[in-house]
Amino acid sequence: MRIGILSQARINLDLQRFTRAAVQKGVHLSVLHPRQLILKIRREKLYLLDTYMRPVQVDAMINWAPCPEFLEIEQACRILRIPFVNSTEAVRRARNKMLTSLILCEHDLPQPETAFVNEAHPALPLLLPVPLVFKPKSGTTGQGAKKIETAHEYRTLLMHRQVRQDLYLQSYVPNGGWDLRVVVIGRSVLGAIKKTARQGEWRTHVAYGGKVEPCQLESELEQLALRVAEVLGLSITGLDIMIDKTNESYQILEANAVPGLKIFEEATGISVAQAILDHMISLVKKNA
Ligand SMILES: Nc1ncnc2c1ncn2[C@@H]1O[C@H](COP(=O)(O)OP(=O)(O)O)[C@@H](O)[C@H]1O
Ligand SMILES: [Mg+2]
Repeated sequence: MRIGILSQARINLDLQRFTRAAVQKGVHLSVLHPRQLILKIRREKLYLLDTYMRPVQVDAMINWAPCPEFLEIEQACRILRIPFVNSTEAVRRARNKMLTSLILCEHDLPQPETAFVNEAHPALPLLLPVPLVFKPKSGTTGQGAKKIETAHEYRTLLMHRQVRQDLYLQSYVPNGGWDLRVVVIGRSVLGAIKKTARQGEWRTHVAYGGKVEPCQLESELEQLALRVAEVLGLSITGLDIMIDKTNESYQILEANAVPGLKIFEEATGISVAQAILDHMISLVKKNA
């Protein structure tokens, strides 16, 4: 079986993990850079070619290049009956934290109180008081995110956001210094890790000194994670979920369409790359 992985990076640690997993599974894996793919239509027939004009023969395509979107390649794969996962629509929902929030709200799924404006608005502090978290709408790995604890910090944030910059704000979830990363592949939960923030840091990322350990999920949380993946249309996702310590409720923080593989694999011993390949293989078999 031949599986393509659409990636803007040519080689990185996650691609190496995919390559190793493919060898173990006996899958022929091609890393395909979106800019090196050519779509050609001739006499009502569609061809997917590489830059040497050779047909690209893949049975399934992993979309590991979520930003920008390659809608044309996705559409071509659909026409050629090549399963394409995650869909660009699902990736768009996950990339944009406010779109994620809206869809979670549409499906009655729990999240912190959230406010979004297209331009800083002076009434925001009345609408969503401190403590809160400002996150760049399309941010990742905590970059640019701020915890706002005082009215002064709030005013400074509103002042410094320039005109026509949107603002995504979330009430700060009182927590025990940790959150969970739950990985869902296809329609199953692959596993979860608990990420504990470094002393004095509110973000739990390993990049900010956080520690990780494997973690067992209650079935309620498994069901929640599966539902979140389903409503967002994600077949591959890493969900960040926090537990509000005041009432023990789950709060969904975000969905990642391209979850990092290394930290999860090192903590749990579970290969996400292998699970993704297994999922792609099952899609191809279903498609046959
Ligand atoms: N509303 C919140 N309340 C408390 N902590 C939060 C909240 N939102 C995010 N965090 C912390 O910040 C981290 C990063 O936020 P997240 O929504 O996962 O965005 P990203 O990882 O894309 O930067 C989370 O893992 C969590 O530790
Ligand atoms: Mg996160």
